[in-house]
This record gives sequence, structure tokens and C-alpha cells, in this order.
Amino acid sequence: MSSKVIKPIRKLFGELTLPGDKSISHRAVMIGAIAEGDTSLKGLLDCDDCDYTIRAFRDMGIVIEKKGGLTIVKGRGLRGLKKPGGVLDAGNSGTTMRLLAGILAGHDFEATLTGGESLSNRPMRRIVEPLSLMGADIMARDSGYPPLTIKGGSLKPIDYHMPISSAQVKSAILLAGLYAKGITKVEEPFKSRDHTERMLKHFGAKLKAEGPKVSVEGPGTLKGRSLEVPGDISSASFFLVGATLLKGSKIRINKIGINPTRAGILRLLSKMGSKVKILNESDLFEPVADIEVAHAETHGVVIEEEMIPGLIDELPIIFVLASLSKGVTVIRGAKELRLKETDRIHSLEDNLKKMGSQINIKGDELIIEGRKVLQGASLKSFGDHRTCMAVTVAALCAKGESSIDDVECVNKSFPGFFTTLEGLQQ
Ligand code: S3P
Repeated sequence: MSSKVIKPIRKLFGELTLPGDKSISHRAVMIGAIAEGDTSLKGLLDCDDCDYTIRAFRDMGIVIEKKGGLTIVKGRGLRGLKKPGGVLDAGNSGTTMRLLAGILAGHDFEATLTGGESLSNRPMRRIVEPLSLMGADIMARDSGYPPLTIKGGSLKPIDYHMPISSAQVKSAILLAGLYAKGITKVEEPFKSRDHTERMLKHFGAKLKAEGPKVSVEGPGTLKGRSLEVPGDISSASFFLVGATLLKGSKIRINKIGINPTRAGILRLLSKMGSKVKILNESDLFEPVADIEVAHAETHGVVIEEEMIPGLIDELPIIFVLASLSKGVTVIRGAKELRLKETDRIHSLEDNLKKMGSQINIKGDELIIEGRKVLQGASLKSFGDHRTCMAVTVAALCAKGESSIDDVECVNKSFPGFFTTLEGLQQ
């Protein structure tokens, strides 16, 4: 585990293209594997989390080949997966475990899904409950934690009202719904990212979406497709915020996914006063655009609960933005942040307070009082990629040097983070 010294910089400047979207990459491999025929993927994200998804499907007999910039997934159809020879390892990837559980629920072999230290402490009851209602037999440690042993088979459709908004839970239900005869319906309190819905439709599933309500008709036959994975807006957010905060900065990020259920950060940046330009929009199965951002003075806002699903992975960097914006930012209904790779409310509060930020937590409300400067400090990644990248940006904007421990955790979603950042520093 190595630490890194981060020195303040003057500005970020330049043009870049970022690696593929993590959520879309997982789904492309999974849906490609259960589709009929080849799926050819351009720009699939190469990171620790996606490697776990690829390995799990290889363990179930799916051939996945990398050729040049393409990844070919040789789909074997809805029921083409083979019983794995051993335990399936999801690493610390929540998306791998939860979405794969939905697919395994449709198979009549028994399989065990295990995870690393952080994933083993993340809640799984949220998927065990609906998948069990559909007829899958699932055993979980302490009735709600990994490992999960799943024996599926003959599923029935359900009409499920989710108690929380979660794309992983929704996706697990929709993927299982492909295996149930009839219409499976799912509804969230507030709509979360709809990458699964878009991709299932693109692969030929009979799926309808209306606001936070989605239904899929099973059995669903999927056909392999060719697609290009857009750049990851979550990875982009660190640079977008860095460029907004540092005087004289101007960056352009090409071909980034701007799906409205995911790109709340773009709306929020504009609302806080950042100069964001969305250029060259195109829409294949996911909307994509080039984004330009320049330095601007930003101010605090109120972030209400319904905005949280569209911002969930960007909240760590939003804490940094709020800490350096004029006035007060209030964030409501973000308790899901405590259940990520680490408790991200705690990890950000701990680091940013060391840098001089004023963060107060009152029940389910977070209040950040912006200041003009943060001080360099000895910071901790908590082994969490997004905490690490967020505090790196805070350190670049601070007065004085900082150090951050265990920086390898960025490999979970963005192995080239530090090199890309160095390429933009001036
Ligand atoms: C994801 C959904 C979100 C997000 C995670 C990826 C996905 O999790 O935080 O990084 O790919 O569906 P929840 O569904 O738990 O909100």
C-alpha cells in the first residue's frame, strides 16, 4: 500500500478522453453473455471491478476475448451459462455481486458468490428479498451479507416497490425478470441510473419504462450487439470540479456519457455557478457529448433527496466543491453514502475537517459551510477509490502539501487517474 504526496497546483488545462463507463461496462459483459451470438464492445473499462465480472462469466463457460481495442463476448443465450467449477468471486464490486445474483436467480444450478473485505460488509438483503419473492432460493450470511448461495430456476414475475432507490437492486430484479414468464414490474422512490433498461432494450428485450416504474416481459430473448462504451461521467467529475475550482483552468473531456439519470453533476455544477458547456451531443443507446469547463466562482446550494440517485457516486467530490464554494451547501437524504465501499460521509468528513472544512451532520442532513482555502493535511483514502480521488482534488486546490495513504485503490474504477491528472496540471 503506497502513499502519495500531493502538492498544490495552479490550474488544470487541456483536452482528454477518459476510460469507459464502469456501470455500462459491467452491464455490457453480463447482458452480452446471456444474449445470443457475439457482442463486440469498444472502449470497455479496464479496471479491477470489471475484471471480476469478466472472470465470473468465464468461470461459467463464456468466452470473452480482447482483440486490439475490442472485447468480444461470445453470448450463449439466456440459459447458456454453465455451473461454475468453484465459488464466484465478485472482489469488492457491488455491481458484480448484485446484478449477477439477478442472473443466477434464473439458473437452476447452485452457485456461491463471495466478495472481498469491503463487499462482505455491504447489505445484500435488498436483493435477497425480491429475488426470493420471485422464487429463487438464496442463503446469505447473517441473512443479509455475502457470501450468497443461490439456486434459482423457475421464477415468477413480481410487482415490487423498492424501499430505496438503487440501480443495482432494480437491475437485479429486471435481469431476473428476463427468466420469469410474464411481466415483472419494479418501482423506485426516485429514478436511479437506467443503464440496464437502455441496454436490455438495445439487445431486444421487451421493456417499458415510465419515470421510476419499469417493467420487463419474460422470457426475454436477447441478441448480441456491437456497441461503444461512453466515457465515465463519474471519473470525469473529478476533473470537472478541479477545473471549476482552480483559477485559469479550462479543460475539454471528449465522448462522455451524459445520461440524465446519471449526469446530475452537470446540472449541479451549472446551478452552483460553474461554466459547463455540453457540445457535440449524440445518442446511440446512451447519450454522449463533449464537455468543456472553465474556472468559475461557485456558490452553495440545497441538494434535495430526489437529486441524490443522479449524483450518488459524485457526492465525495461534491463535498470538496461545496467546501470551496461561497456560502452554505445542504445535502439531504444521502444516507446510502454510508453503505458504499466505505462510509463515504465519514471518510469525507474526516479528511475535509483535517483540511479546515466546516461540515455538520444533523440527522439525515449534511451542512457544509464553504471557505476560501483548505489546508494541506495527512489524508486517508479509507481504501475507497472515490474518497481517494476526491481528496486528491481537494489537495491540489489546498494551501500546502498533503499526503494520501493507500492510493492503489483508484484501480477499482480508474487505474490511470494519477497519470491523467499529471497530464493536465500546469
Ligand atoms: C451502480 C449503482 C449505484 C452506484 C454504484 C454503481 C450501478 O449503487 O453507487 O457505484 O452500476 O448500478 P446503488 O444501486 O447501490 O445506488
